[in-house]
Amino acid sequence: MDIIDTKLVKINPNNIDYEILSEAASIIKNGGTVIFPTETVYGLGANALDEDACDKIYKAKGRPSDNPLIVHIISMDELNKLVREIPENAEIMADKFWPGPLTMIFDKKDIISYKITAGLETVAVRMPENKIARELIRLSGCPIAAPSANTSGKPSPTSAQHVIEDMLGRVDMIIDGGSCDIGLESSVVDITGDIPTILRPGKVTKEDIERLFGKCDTDPAIIKSDEKIVPKSPGQKYRHYSPKAELILYKGSLKKTVNSIKKDCKEYIRKAKKVGIIASEQTRSFYDNLNDEVVIKVVGDRKNPLTIATNLFDVLRSFDSSNVNVILSESFDDKGIGGAIMNRLGKAASKKIELGKLKVLFVCTGNTCRSPMAEGIMKDIARQKGWDIEISSAGISAIDGDNPSQNAVLVLNKMGIDISKHKSRLINEKMLEEADLIITMTNQHKEILLRRYNNLEGKITSFNIQDPYGRSHNVYQSCSEEIRGEILKISDSLMI
Ligand code: TXA
Ligand code: MG
Repeated sequence: MDIIDTKLVKINPNNIDYEILSEAASIIKNGGTVIFPTETVYGLGANALDEDACDKIYKAKGRPSDNPLIVHIISMDELNKLVREIPENAEIMADKFWPGPLTMIFDKKDIISYKITAGLETVAVRMPENKIARELIRLSGCPIAAPSANTSGKPSPTSAQHVIEDMLGRVDMIIDGGSCDIGLESSVVDITGDIPTILRPGKVTKEDIERLFGKCDTDPAIIKSDEKIVPKSPGQKYRHYSPKAELILYKGSLKKTVNSIKKDCKEYIRKAKKVGIIASEQTRSFYDNLNDEVVIKVVGDRKNPLTIATNLFDVLRSFDSSNVNVILSESFDDKGIGGAIMNRLGKAASKKIELGKLKVLFVCTGNTCRSPMAEGIMKDIARQKGWDIEISSAGISAIDGDNPSQNAVLVLNKMGIDISKHKSRLINEKMLEEADLIITMTNQHKEILLRRYNNLEGKITSFNIQDPYGRSHNVYQSCSEEIRGEILKISDSLMI
C-alpha cells in the first residue's frame, strides 16, 4: 500500500487534550484511520458505518478479508441502532461488564456492512472503558470499527511503541495514550443462544459468566487443539501472536518444565542457537547459571496472573529485537484470566511439549515400612492441597509383593490413611528413570543408588528417617510424624 503521512500525537488519559482528540475525531468522520488506546490493546479505528473507511483497516493490517471487525460503541442506544435484537442475557452481561473488556456477538442490522462482518449475519460489539477511546467515539459521533492495531499475525500492541513499529506510514493518526492495563484482547462471547459461549477467552472469564447464568460454554475449537474443528470466531483459526523466532511451549509440572527448559536450552546452545526463555518471578533464579547469551524475560508473577497478561505481548515482541532463534516458554495456570494467557501462548507456539505430572518416588530398604508410609502420607497431603502429582515407592532390597508392616498400617490408619493394600516392589532402573524426584529415607540409600545407577544427579535427595522395623508402635508413630514434617519442608521446592 502507499505510504501515508502518519500524525503521531500523545494524550494523557487523565487530562485529555480535547483539541488533539477533536482532530482525531474529524479524521474518523472524514473516512480516515486512527489508532487509539483501549484498556485491552490498541485498536485501529475507522467509521464503522463507512465501508471505504473499513477497507482501509484491512489494508493497513494486511488482514484476511474473512476475519470480521469489532464495532466499538459508548451507549446502549447506539447498540439498538446496530443490532436486530438485544437478548436478555446480553442486557445482563452489559450491565455487569460494560464498559469493559467484553465483546458480544449479535444479529446485525443492514446498517452494518458485510465488509465489517466478513459476510456473516452477526456483528461483534464492544463498549470500551478507556477514557480516550470513549471520548474519541463520542466526538466522532459514530460507532468505530477497530481490530487490534498490529500487523496481522503479530502480537497485539499494548504500547504506542508497538503500534509505531507496525503501523507508521499505514494510518492517518496514532494516539499514544500510554500502556494498556489488561494487555490481552477482550473476551468474545456469543449470547445469541440460550447458553453464553466464549469464542475468545479474555479478562471476563468463564467463571465470571457462570456466576451470572450458572452456565457458560467454551467454543470446542478453543479447548481442543484439533485443527479440524472450525472456530466460531474466525480470528481464532489463524496462527497468531507470533514472534519471529519459533516458540516452544512446555506444559505440565513446573519442576519438570524448568528442568526440560534448562536441558533443551543447553542443547540449543551446543547447536549454536541463540535462546530466549519466558520465565516467571517464581522460576527466574533457576535459570541463573545458563550461558550469558540466553535472553531470559520474566513475564510476571504467578501469584498475580494479571501481571502476566499485561506483559505477555510486550515480552513476545521484545524477542524480535534480541534476535533469538528459539523461545522456550513456561506454561501458566489456566484458571481465570490464565485461560486467556494460555490461549494466546498456545496460538503463538509452533510446538508444544507435554511433560505430564510430576512423579515422586520414595525409596527405603524393604519397601514395607518407611517408603510406603511416605507414599501414603504424601498422597494424603496431595489430595488435601489439590496437587496433581504421581507418588510411588520401592525398596533397594525389597521382595516383590510383600505386605506392609502391621505397625505401619495401624499408625497410618489412625491418620485416616489406608496403606493395607500396598505391595512392596524391588527398585529397578525404569522406576528411577521415570521419576522426576527420588527421595530416599537415609543418605545411605542415596549413596547406594548413586553408585549403582547413572543419571540420578540433580533429581535425588534424602530424608533422615531411621528404620522402625521390628520396633514399637510408638516408634512407628514418631517415624510417621517425622516423614510428614520432611515432606512439608520440601513441598515448596516441588513448585506445584
Ligand atoms: O480487546 C479487543 O477486542 C481489541 C480492542 C481494540 O477492542 N480488538 C480486537 O479485535 O482484538 P480483533 O479484530 O483483533 O479481534 C476480533 C475477534 C476476531 O477473532 C474475530 O474473528 C472475532 O473477534 N469476531 C469479530 N466478529 C465476529 C463475529 N461476528 N462472530 C464471531 N467472531 C467475530
Ligand atoms: Mg487481533
